[in-house]
Amino acid sequence: MKIIPLSKPYFSLKSKKSIIRGMKNILDSGTLMMGKYTEDFEKNFSKRIGVQHSITTNTGTTALQIILNFYQVKGYEILVPSASFITDVSAIKWCGGTPVYVDINPKTLSFDLDKLEKSITKKTKCIIWVHLTGLISEEYKKILSICKKYNLKLIEDSSHAHGAKIDNYSAGSIGNASCFSFYPGKIMTSGTGGIITTNNKKLAEYAKQVRLFGRCKGNEKEICLEGNDWFMDEFRACIGYYQLKDLNKSLKIRKNLALNYNSYLSDEKNLSLFKVKKNNSHAYYQFSVLLNKKINREKLISRMKTKYGIISKRIYKPVHNEKIFNKIPLPKLGLKTTEDILSRSLCLPMHCYLTKKDIKYICESLKSALK
Ligand SMILES: Cc1ncc(COP(=O)(O)O)c(C=O)c1O
Repeated sequence: MKIIPLSKPYFSLKSKKSIIRGMKNILDSGTLMMGKYTEDFEKNFSKRIGVQHSITTNTGTTALQIILNFYQVKGYEILVPSASFITDVSAIKWCGGTPVYVDINPKTLSFDLDKLEKSITKKTKCIIWVHLTGLISEEYKKILSICKKYNLKLIEDSSHAHGAKIDNYSAGSIGNASCFSFYPGKIMTSGTGGIITTNNKKLAEYAKQVRLFGRCKGNEKEICLEGNDWFMDEFRACIGYYQLKDLNKSLKIRKNLALNYNSYLSDEKNLSLFKVKKNNSHAYYQFSVLLNKKINREKLISRMKTKYGIISKRIYKPVHNEKIFNKIPLPKLGLKTTEDILSRSLCLPMHCYLTKKDIKYICESLKSALK
């Protein structure tokens, strides 16, 4: 039986050839770090996202840690969704901050804004705003005005949202700073890797020093900051550089696949589809649907795999249900929607090697499995 994976990194033929040539160039040059590919990747990423500075890192998690450290979150509260990947919370803990979970809005998959505002205290310093599955919240202007009203820093986690746009703004250009991940399976990958985007020159300079052992700018023999070994090497920067060239094509393919999914599944009564407004360009890192309450998702996932060879999964387990974080207090306002949405979410395969025929097969199989 053919297995249809959930995700698969996309490299155009042209990019594959260029990467192979790039690898040889790097080996011949002997410059394995902080070279031409890092510079070009960062410059082009800034241009694509519409920011002044991009700073590559070894992972998306360290990109977030650098941002949080720059904002000196130690001893402060950081608002964060539990409906996300675990490292949004672990990065806060690593930086000495206190994570405060905020529930989500089932339509935007982002914060419930009423609960967000009610969660702000004198100790709140930042908000980590995750573009879950690749969708930017249509309520972004309200999020910005809450940050302005309470003087909070808005940190986007755009790890699912390379190339996502709302109105004319790209994910990664809306808040004070953003992290992206280039982990395998993401819309863009460099093997592993991450990047910070910002218009804040001081943050950019801080990040460039911290990622390189804390070495001083202009005098690398001296150490100015408590840094780490968090830079991206030239090999990965080369892959990232060519992935960026493939980004528009990837986004177009993903959008078409999502349109196909939506039309095949629109009449399926056992699930509902997420609606996306016209001014919102979903990046479709994941294509997820919401199963009706009576469906046993784990059985469905298993049936899809064993009977049809289709890999599917939930978006995430809520972070507050991870044992390691059981000392973080649950918010008084609750996480009811987070628990409900994440317990019913189902992500279907989404990657650039899928064909229209595959989508038809996946949808027909899903419909049969739901019966
Ligand atoms: C939403 C989100 N944030 C952060 C990360 C962490 O990125 P990385 O694995 O590159 O450290 C990931 C993914 O892997 C993610 O999906």
